[in-house]
Amino acid sequence: MMFLLLCLFIGASVGVLTPRRYDNDKVFRILPKTEKEVEFIKYLDNKMQLDFFKPASSHQVIPNNPADFHTSAEESEIIMKFLEKKGIKFDILSENLQETIERQFQVVEEKNNRSGRIFRYQPWEKIATWAFSVALRNPKLVSMMEIGKTYEGRPIILLKVGKQKACKKGIILECGIHAREWISPAFCQWFVNEAVKTYGKDKNMTRLLDRVTFHVIPVFNIDGYVWSWTQDRLWRKNRKPNGECIGTDLNRNFNISWNKFEKDEDPCMQAYAGTGPESEVETQAFSTYIRKNLDSIKAHISFHSYGQMLLYPYGHAEENIPNHEIVEKLAVSALEALSGLFGTKYIHGSISKIIGLVSGSSIDWSYEEGIKYSFGFELRDGKIYNFLLPESLIKPTCQETMLAVKVIANHVLKLET
Ligand SMILES: *[C@@H]1O[C@H](CO)[C@@H](O)[C@H](O)[C@H]1NC(C)=O
Ligand SMILES: *[C@@H]1O[C@H](CO)[C@@H](O)[C@H](O)[C@H]1NC(C)=O
Ligand SMILES: *[C@@H]1O[C@H](CO)[C@@H](O)[C@H](O)[C@H]1NC(C)=O
Ligand SMILES: [Zn+2]
Repeated sequence: MMFLLLCLFIGASVGVLTPRRYDNDKVFRILPKTEKEVEFIKYLDNKMQLDFFKPASSHQVIPNNPADFHTSAEESEIIMKFLEKKGIKFDILSENLQETIERQFQVVEEKNNRSGRIFRYQPWEKIATWAFSVALRNPKLVSMMEIGKTYEGRPIILLKVGKQKACKKGIILECGIHAREWISPAFCQWFVNEAVKTYGKDKNMTRLLDRVTFHVIPVFNIDGYVWSWTQDRLWRKNRKPNGECIGTDLNRNFNISWNKFEKDEDPCMQAYAGTGPESEVETQAFSTYIRKNLDSIKAHISFHSYGQMLLYPYGHAEENIPNHEIVEKLAVSALEALSGLFGTKYIHGSISKIIGLVSGSSIDWSYEEGIKYSFGFELRDGKIYNFLLPESLIKPTCQETMLAVKVIANHVLKLET
């Protein structure tokens, strides 16, 4: 384990560059009402190479679903003129993206309040050290392993959480496949901390940990995550170069209808699918681990932001999955628990219905491998902060998400074998 800890810091010191700034950049939200308006957004993207936030590329834009993208201040003038001329309604979600980025860290002071501890986003080195120490401090409940290495050589850490016993059911919690979605790794850390803190105290959690092993990957795309901390807050992909551009979208790289929609072939795009299925070492590491543990793993939950959605397969096809009814019901129960805490509203459904057709996603792949409960959360928020959820909202987001995860886990616990 010591060796592993030493390895954590390899590749950590890249040359010092000035981080990318987003001064006065805008974030647009368009709600296209018709196919014609959708076509116009695609045309605009073709002409101006819009940087899509949600969905990840313009081919996924569909009528009546919001489409968010980021542009420079100069481009925004042109785009606004175009949209006004076409009579397409839009909102500006951020007038100055750099300010929104900085606002993430403006924590509300909660003085003299022990229960009001402030939760912060953590850079990779801190997460790695935390993983090491949480395993060290809770040897009966947590063990740490490495499932492979990233392109830049960082060990991909997995924490097995639960009472150590043979023949247990497993649930994969996969965080940080997209670098800029920082609330996702924060949730995985929250989950592990809550598990060790409440084991033996909270009956429900104790029962879960006695019978289920949670396989938690705090940060899947570590190289990208590091880049998002040091160089470009809005980085999404991994960091392997592909010709003139860098990075593959790991959540398009899985071996399931890979690149079927043939729109993600440009290596400069945010949703570039890679040179082939499982072309990326990170995808390989994850897929290999799942394949090895298919007998025990019953559920897989992938955490993303933003949009407040609970998604399930398929993304790569429009038809319903075979166990659609039961998965749909479970999603409804999970969201009842989630919104019961603060009233946060989520929508839910299959990826293809809710955000459009997507190939090569991790939950579609694991579903096809035989994991019948594969979910993807798009965590907070819905509109204002996009990927830049302020730190003051980490805690409530994790608290409510925890309730939904527990519902899914309790369902798994009740399954026969
Ligand atoms: C302390 O913080 C918690 C959680 O943020 C809050 O619910 C509670 O009302 C606060 N208590 C006081 C005395 O401010
Ligand atoms: C992808 O899956 C197909 C069929 O399931 C298989 O034939 C192929 O070898 C797989 N490719 C990789 C890279 O694993
Ligand atoms: C544990 O909590 C879940 C929901 O979170 C609930 O459905 C289940 O009945 C609870 N189990 C026990 C034993 O309390
Ligand atoms: Zn994502």
